[in-house]
This record gives sequence, C-alpha cells and structure tokens, in this order.
Amino acid sequence: MIATTSFLAGFLAFGIAFAAPWSPFQLGPPASHFDGYGNGFRGPHGGASGSTSSSGRGSGINVQLGPRPYYLVDNMDAGPLKDKLESCSEGPFSTSDFVVSHRGAPLMFPEHSRQGYVAAARMGASIIECDVSFTSDRELVCRHSNCDLHYTTNILANATLAAKCTQPFTPYNATTRTPASAQCCTSDITLAEFKSLCAEMEASTFNALNVSTTTSPNFGRIGVTPDWRTNMYSYSCAEPMSLRDQISLVESYGLNFTAEAKTPVFYPTPFQGNYTQADFAQQIVDTFVDMGIDPSRVWLQSFLPDDIFYWIANDPAFGVQAVYLDERADLSPTGYDEAVASLPGLAARGVKIIAPSTWQLVTANNATGQIVPSSYAIAANAAGLEIITWSLERSGPLNTGGGYYYQSVSNLINNDGDEFTLIDVLAHQVNATKIFSDWVGTLTYYANCFGL
Ligand SMILES: *[C@@H]1O[C@H](CO)[C@@H](O)[C@H](O)[C@H]1NC(C)=O
Ligand SMILES: *[C@@H]1O[C@H](CO)[C@@H](O)[C@H](O)[C@H]1NC(C)=O
Ligand SMILES: *[C@@H]1O[C@H](CO)[C@@H](O)[C@H](O)[C@H]1NC(C)=O
Ligand SMILES: *[C@@H]1O[C@H](CO)[C@@H](O)[C@H](O)[C@H]1NC(C)=O
Ligand SMILES: *[C@@H]1O[C@H](CO)[C@@H](O)[C@H](O)[C@H]1NC(C)=O
Ligand SMILES: *[C@@H]1O[C@H](CO)[C@@H](O)[C@H](O)[C@H]1NC(C)=O
Ligand SMILES: *[C@@H]1O[C@H](CO)[C@@H](O)[C@H](O)[C@H]1NC(C)=O
Repeated sequence: MIATTSFLAGFLAFGIAFAAPWSPFQLGPPASHFDGYGNGFRGPHGGASGSTSSSGRGSGINVQLGPRPYYLVDNMDAGPLKDKLESCSEGPFSTSDFVVSHRGAPLMFPEHSRQGYVAAARMGASIIECDVSFTSDRELVCRHSNCDLHYTTNILANATLAAKCTQPFTPYNATTRTPASAQCCTSDITLAEFKSLCAEMEASTFNALNVSTTTSPNFGRIGVTPDWRTNMYSYSCAEPMSLRDQISLVESYGLNFTAEAKTPVFYPTPFQGNYTQADFAQQIVDTFVDMGIDPSRVWLQSFLPDDIFYWIANDPAFGVQAVYLDERADLSPTGYDEAVASLPGLAARGVKIIAPSTWQLVTANNATGQIVPSSYAIAANAAGLEIITWSLERSGPLNTGGGYYYQSVSNLINNDGDEFTLIDVLAHQVNATKIFSDWVGTLTYYANCFGL
C-alpha cells in the first residue's frame, strides 16, 4: 500500500509536467523530466578508489561514438577543458561505468525500443534503463509513464486498441488552440497487445488532427517529434520491450541494469482491487531474481521514497543500491530547501544513492562566471550519499540557456559545447558517479578521456 503523501507527490509531478499552460506549437514542459536514473559503485566521493571503475570491462563491445561528441568539442569555448577533450579525439573508446543510458537512445531512436537499447550499448553505456510499468495482465513493460502510449507508440492508429484507451483521442482544435488529447495506459492493454505496437519518438507538440494512420508526421501519436530529434529510425516499427525482453538483451551484451518503478497515475490503487505499489515493486525484484541477475548489477530507482524504503526493508541486496530519484524541488517553492535539509536523515534511514536532476546540483557563481556545486551537492557529499544525476541530451539546442535541466545556470549556457562544461562540473566537483543521457556517446567520450 502506498502512503497518501507519496501518491500525492507522484500525482503532483504528473500535474506539473502535463497541466502547465503551454502552446501546442512549442516544446512544452517536456512530459519528460520526471523519470529514471541509476548508480555506481565507485565510493561516495567520485571514485578515487578506481578499482571497479576502469572502462571497458565486461562488455567487449567495439564502442563507436559517431560524430556528435566531436561536434560538441569543436563548439566549446576555448579553454583547458576543450584542450583536454581535443587531446582524446582518437580514443580508444570503451564501455564506461560513468555512463547510463536514459530510455535507450531517445535523441534519435524511439525510446524504450530494442533499437534504442542496442544503440546505447554500441555508444558505451554500462547500464541501460527500463522504466517499468505494467499491463492489464500484470506483466512488466518498459515505458517512461504508465500512460504514455498515445505519445510514444502508434496505438491510436489501431482502432481496436485505441478503443481500449482510458481516454479517447480528441484532435487539436485550431480555433481554441486546445492541444490534442488522449490517455492510453499500459494497464489498458495486455502484454500481447503491447508487443504488437510500434515504439515511436516521444511527441512533444500535441497538434494531431488525425491519427488513424501510421504515416509521418504523427505515426499514430497525438503529436509530432521536435525538429532537433529525428524520425529516421521510426519508419520500420521499432520494437517495444517487456522488462524480461530488456533484461535478456542487456544481458546478451554483458551490461548492467537500472529499472525504475513508475509512480502510479490514472488508475485507482490498488490496481484491480488488490495489486499494490509494493506488489509492483516486489515483482520488479522477482523478475531480476527469476532471470538470474545478481543484485549488484541492478540499480532499482523510484521517485517514491516508500518504494526505496520497501526495497531496503524487504530486498536488502537490491535496496543497498536503490536510487532515490529526487524531484521535490520541482514540486513546491520550498521543495529544494526541504530536500537539502532531508539528506542526512535519508542517509540515516539507509538510502545510499540520491539522484536529483542536473539543475539541482549546480549553481552560477556570477562573480567568476563559473558553474559550481550547489548547496544540494555539498549537503549530499557531506551526508555520504552517492550522487547520480539525470538527464543530458534531451534539451535540444543550448543557444538560449538550455531549459529545464540547465535552469540554475542558464545565464552561463549559450552554446551546445557548454554541455561538456556541465558534465565536467558534475563529474569533478559535484562528484556524481554516473550520469543519465539520451545519447550516451557524448558521456562516453568525456568518461574515456578522463579515465572514468
Ligand atoms: C473547436 O472548439 C470550438 C469551441 O469549443 C468549437 O466550437 C469547435 O467546433 C471546435 N472545432 C473542432 C474542429 O472540433
Ligand atoms: C491491432 O492490434 C491487434 C491486437 O494486438 C492486432 O491483432 C491487430 O492486427 C492490429 N491491427 C492492425 C491494423 O494493426
Ligand atoms: C483520418 O484519415 C483517414 C485516412 O486518410 C480518413 O479515412 C478519416 O476519415 C480521417 N478522419 C478524420 C476525423 O478526418
Ligand atoms: C486479486 O483479485 C483478482 C480478481 O480481480 C483475483 O483473481 C486474484 O486471485 C486476487 N489475487 C490475490 C493475490 O488476492
Ligand atoms: C556491472 O556491475 C558489476 C557489479 O557492480 C560490476 O562489477 C561490473 O563491472 C559492471 N559491468 C559493467 C559492464 O560495467
Ligand atoms: C546569476 O545571474 C543571473 C542573471 O543575472 C541570475 O538570474 C541568477 O539568479 C544569478 N545566480 C546567482 C546564484 O546569484
Ligand atoms: C567532491 O570530492 C572532493 C574530494 O573528496 C571534495 O574536495 C569536494 O568538496 C567534493 N565536492 C562537494 C560538492 O562536496
């Protein structure tokens, strides 16, 4: 049973992400930041021990980064960090413990698809994320929200399945500028039905007039893909994955796992009268156990503290590296200060790993023009908590300050290469041990260059 406060927090998070006023012709508050993140084992202060953090171990993958990291290095402001990164241009490149794939490779591949996970493995991720939701037959599937099928799959183009959605499709109204809407949840359909879908790029502009076909630009979604991502890999039905599918795939590469228990939305809890959040949290653990995965290779995550405390109490081998995703700063004006003040208490209750979004960990020193650790970062270090953070490569062009993930330092962000400046502060001053990214090649370049 989940506590009322936890449920409320999750509900609020959803409300902020979706209910804020926004134009259907802008990239909205990205339906996107409230989600998943994982950890590492390099000690609480950034890995001086090093013994388990050498790169490349385990995977044997011929890691390929593509041109993007080079573009970003070229785009950086002149300085010692740029010089250092340029000196690493010829590799070698290999899988790094610092690098966590966020939903696969959703800068360019449909999120939580087999194709996206494969791309992340190829670009050097040591850990690949499955955000876990469940179907009407209580099977576990990888989706970033219980109810995102109407903007991350082609479900609305299948009349049989669309009829099962919690809320039917309503087209965009050009007169009132009311966004298109629908609500299609994993719990509306069975696993077999889920597997018959195609994964699509996350739509962020809900302007669809007609979703009855799977053709571009809508691909059966209520919106369209932002222009800085691409539909290139959406035309031949990217494969959605169950948690079991995902574990088998990641295991085939010898890589590691992070699974997020999603916050319940849009269905009465307990689901079907007797499926509680604790049952769901336990089912995730049982799936890894059943598939023979050692708990030391699994970083479970949740935004709900009760999930973290549940794992610590009931599945301690998993609980010891459970990751508390912290979005309290996004939920109320006093949330940031409350979160900072709570960190020693969380550590005392057995939380080992804290995972706030990037913006919470840094602040602008306007006297020097530098990005520096925030009071949150200092307090987390002082409490002995390991820090993981999320998520890079989902902000689009950085020429105007970078948006949500850069909001605390936006006055210091004005070109795409500034991403490496932020990564450097997170790695070497904040002491983050791992970072989530939508396009992990960028992080792998940095991590390999610095021996992380
Ligand atoms: C758009 O909304 C207006 C006002 O509610 C309504 O009169 C109109 O019929 C709507 N248009 C469509 C195409 O549904
Ligand atoms: C719609 O989904 C159902 C259930 O998965 C499937 O049997 C059917 O073939 C699909 N229809 C189309 C047109 O794809
Ligand atoms: C949507 O497009 C399909 C295929 O072109 C068409 O048959 C259908 O009538 C359209 N629906 C609406 C509401 O315009
Ligand atoms: C949960 O409820 C369903 C009916 O909705 C029932 O079939 C099932 O046996 C119940 N399970 C438990 C563990 O009580
Ligand atoms: C996976 O995790 C285990 C346990 O933390 C670690 O020893 C191993 O090196 C990791 N594998 C990779 C590919 O990072
Ligand atoms: C730094 O300057 C910017 C722009 O003037 C301002 O918005 C921000 O609050 C300042 N940051 C701090 C930490 O004082
Ligand atoms: C990060 O670790 C270093 C080395 O232990 C320490 O000097 C620094 O203060 C830490 N950073 C923060 C924000 O506490």
